[in-house]
Amino acid sequence: MDKLFVSQHPMIAHKLAILRDKDTDHRKFRELVKEIAGLLAYEVTADLPTEPKDVQTPLAIAKCQELKVKVGLVPILRAGLGMVEGFWSFIPSAEVWHIGLYRDEHTLKPVEYYNKLPTAPTVDMCLILDPMLATGGSATATIDVLKRWGVTNIKFVGLIGAPEGIAQVHKLHPEVPIHLACIDEKLNDIGYIVPGLGDAGDRQFGTA
Ligand code: PRP
Ligand code: URA
Repeated sequence: MDKLFVSQHPMIAHKLAILRDKDTDHRKFRELVKEIAGLLAYEVTADLPTEPKDVQTPLAIAKCQELKVKVGLVPILRAGLGMVEGFWSFIPSAEVWHIGLYRDEHTLKPVEYYNKLPTAPTVDMCLILDPMLATGGSATATIDVLKRWGVTNIKFVGLIGAPEGIAQVHKLHPEVPIHLACIDEKLNDIGYIVPGLGDAGDRQFGTA
């Protein structure tokens, strides 16, 4: 489990409590997804490599550092969209490549419906954004897509993960780090995370 990172930040825990509340409305829900994502972005990017750069200040040359990697954000549609703004506030230059997947409600398998990745990779590393890691089907399918694209430096970033989804990502892609705000107890018999927060897409977009 050395590739699993669960935030210990008190502000993330506090905001997650409000996010989970069934009485939190769509507008507040979106705001919280963005804010928690922004806090996670700080933690997830803590080990990004940098290289030296000399900067001329008004007074002298300063020995500085700049990012060595070009980062791509990969939100899984729909629910991952809400995390993009939070990450962008932190890495404004990041490219965003959308992957459209929905879970078939009977098989719980991911069905791909949108992918406009160009032929050759344009980034060095990808941060997959999706609030919910349930069975792990959507996350592993997206990692497969990105590896076929040619990017192997990948992290998955979610808000709530189920043990089943974490195990599935570790099994199929053991080198991919998973960053979460929280790990919940289990999946129910229709594949929802318990206690979770319900349907992250519907709660953001008001489609419940
Ligand atoms: C949700 C969520 C993940 C997926 C997680 O998306 O946003 O993408 O389920 O489940 P899994 O780990 O079992 O694959 P959903 O299919 O509900 O689509 P939506 O975001 O469009 O609502
Ligand atoms: N997708 C969601 O939005 N919520 C869950 O609990 C599981 C999958």
